[in-house]
Amino acid sequence: MTSPDSPTSVSARSCLAIVLAAGEGTRMKSDRPKVLHEVANRSMVGHVVATVMAVGATEVAVVVGPGRDDVAREARTIMPEAEVFVQRERLGTGHAVLSARAALEKKPDDVIVVYADTPLVSAETLVALRRPLAEGAAVVALGFEARDPTGYGRFIMAGDQILDIREHKDASEAERAITLCNGGLMAIRGDVALDLLDRVGNQNAKGEYYLTDIVAIARLQGHRTAAVTVAEEEVHGVNDRAQLAAAERMMQERLRHAAMAGGATLIAPETVFFSHDTKIGRDVVIEPNVVFGLGVVIEDHAVIHSFSHLEGARIAAGAAVGPFARLRPGAVVGPKAKVGNFVEIKNSQLGAGAKVGHLTYLGDATVGPEVNIGAGTITCNYDGFGKYRTEIGEGAFVGSNSSLVAPVSIGKGAYVGSGSVVTDDVPQDALALGRGRQVIKEQWATAFRQKSLEKKHK
Ligand code: UD1
Ligand code: CA
Repeated sequence: MTSPDSPTSVSARSCLAIVLAAGEGTRMKSDRPKVLHEVANRSMVGHVVATVMAVGATEVAVVVGPGRDDVAREARTIMPEAEVFVQRERLGTGHAVLSARAALEKKPDDVIVVYADTPLVSAETLVALRRPLAEGAAVVALGFEARDPTGYGRFIMAGDQILDIREHKDASEAERAITLCNGGLMAIRGDVALDLLDRVGNQNAKGEYYLTDIVAIARLQGHRTAAVTVAEEEVHGVNDRAQLAAAERMMQERLRHAAMAGGATLIAPETVFFSHDTKIGRDVVIEPNVVFGLGVVIEDHAVIHSFSHLEGARIAAGAAVGPFARLRPGAVVGPKAKVGNFVEIKNSQLGAGAKVGHLTYLGDATVGPEVNIGAGTITCNYDGFGKYRTEIGEGAFVGSNSSLVAPVSIGKGAYVGSGSVVTDDVPQDALALGRGRQVIKEQWATAFRQKSLEKKHK
């Protein structure tokens, strides 16, 4: 048996990846097909297709159940050239693989079979699974030491040779004592794959065509077989919501480790939630309880303070965000800019060194460098029909509690008096005041109190 190692040795061999996604997923109790449920903001089938692409699959065949165009579409968002095959009846994993017969007939050098509901398998593992094929093996199976082997196929070994895989239901008591189990994924040499698969029968406890039977069949045909082992976590399959949550937990652990390995400080990593695509630079600090939605890029030396939620946002080098900030898609925070507490930003760009310290909503705004936005500033960007932009020039100062009624522009270096409702463009270096003038009535309160007391005691 060999262990996974680096993907750098991926061969130049052509590779067909068959992604089994025809499961019904009834235990999810969901209106959505199981493999469209997400882990770290990407569907499980999406993860698997991305992984097989990363190991150099030259062709991807996705096997879906009847009417599952949604699954096919999702796979194609990751790999537009993916071929889709429909498994009309669910007659077992061997039958499912054979649904992609047309792709197998092209006789690629390697075939890898992966499960769309097993999203944690790593690229390194798939490379390790392919390697024995280049060395002449016909079938390579992926095993793991199971904490609880119940339900899994067992590896029947002779030394480091794998002779057969016995499904739990077909296994004897002695075989059930084996803890080295089948993770399900396999690599098959393309020149013999169809021949081996066509020999699989369904004379077994489930009456199904078992993919696993090709190990013994290959040996009968005089071929070599091999086994590769991985940690149980990598072959964690998702059948219900609890297993989905476990997959999420493991994926988050990987993403946190990757962020830290890349030079980011996570003060309480277990409280930070990433998306599969979050990009984090060096010397970034992420405080506890931060959540990243899709499409976030954090450049070097930025700080994300606690309880912030970011999605589709770009944070430039040295910027600071939060605590309690919400950055929505299209938010771009410039170098060394500051976004403080209870600030929401959507589809807006903040120039270098700009400050939006407190209690503000910026939507559809362009904010120049070194602008200061006072507490409670709101861009009024929506009139129930259209969205309008607010432009704020370099070095402008917007006083607290101002409403900027878009479309509107504030010139460079201009001031907006606190509490203004700005409806007209403000020229460069001007002061805009858009509020009621203050009125003072001397001794009004004394008179008011006196009158009120008299009324009460009457
Ligand atoms: C399979 C393996 C078993 C292994 C286990 C690991 C076989 C015969 N058994 O068992 O050795 O320990 O996985 O989890 O392969 N699928 C289809 N069409 C079908 C049947 C299955 O697309 O007709 C898909 C399922 O959606 C799933 C995968 O293939 O993604 C595995 O099928 P499943 O029925 O869960 O196999 P197990 O019985 O768990
Ligand atoms: Ca299963």
